[in-house]
Amino acid sequence: MVAYPSELYGILCSWIYDHATRLTLDVLSAGPVPKHIGFVMDGNRRYARHEGKAIKEGHADGFTSLQRILECLLKMHVKCVTVYAFAIENFNRPPEEVEALMALLRDKLQEISQKGQLLDQYGVRLNVIGERSMLPKDVQEIAQAVEDMTANNDRAILNVCMPYASRNEMASAVRVLIDQEKTFVLKHRSIEIGENDIDQHLETNFRGSPPLDILIRTSGVHRLSDFMLWQCCDSTQIHYTPGYWPEFGLRDLVPILLDYQLKYWNGQARLVLS
Ligand code: FPP
Ligand code: MG
Repeated sequence: MVAYPSELYGILCSWIYDHATRLTLDVLSAGPVPKHIGFVMDGNRRYARHEGKAIKEGHADGFTSLQRILECLLKMHVKCVTVYAFAIENFNRPPEEVEALMALLRDKLQEISQKGQLLDQYGVRLNVIGERSMLPKDVQEIAQAVEDMTANNDRAILNVCMPYASRNEMASAVRVLIDQEKTFVLKHRSIEIGENDIDQHLETNFRGSPPLDILIRTSGVHRLSDFMLWQCCDSTQIHYTPGYWPEFGLRDLVPILLDYQLKYWNGQARLVLS
């Protein structure tokens, strides 16, 4: 088969891009690598409006961006990634947007967990975190199926928070603790719940996730919006980036990782070498 000059140019560009990416990731992996990174993937709708696309296409492009960035992080051996895929509060959005998002989450969770796809390829265990009883039945079933399928993967963890709110996660942890302590309370008429107890009962923690090293929020919004409030109040480095989530890429990630490594070498970041 004869390749046209424009095709050859395309092949050459993608070869250079792939090799430059690989080299960048290899160089970064030679330094200290954070164990746990969280993402507030914000700006999908503004991106869609800006590009003249439908809102659901903005969310779909947001998923493509997640897949791209996840692959880079897995290549660097980041142990755990947590993403804010759907806030409890997002149920207040127009019904057609909620439906489109649920369909996207259902289809994409299923897609990435198939044999040979991202989760299988990199040995990633997937946890769905949040009030899953609020999800439509079919999404709940897929969430469970994907968790079961990936339960024995032990090289990395992907926490997909949906529908999630950090204060709700904390309240659930306290409810579980009180439930566990009921017999004790009945006997002694008192109950002691400390920070460590709550920490250990947060869904994001008891499923094997290490402490959160970096939290990234895109789209220029400087808020935490009820995401991992407990987890990021200690040594987490919080970064707000100006671009919309579907445009987030390696060029945004590299300065954040370099900043982490610099702080690590200056003794300002958590000890991460295992
Ligand atoms: C926030 O942007 C984004 C969301 C509410 C949805 C994020 C979900 C994905 C990227 C899909 C993830 C898929 C899987 C399988 C994990 P926004 O809607 O608030 O946009 P705006 O800030 O411009 O209004
Ligand atoms: Mg938003």
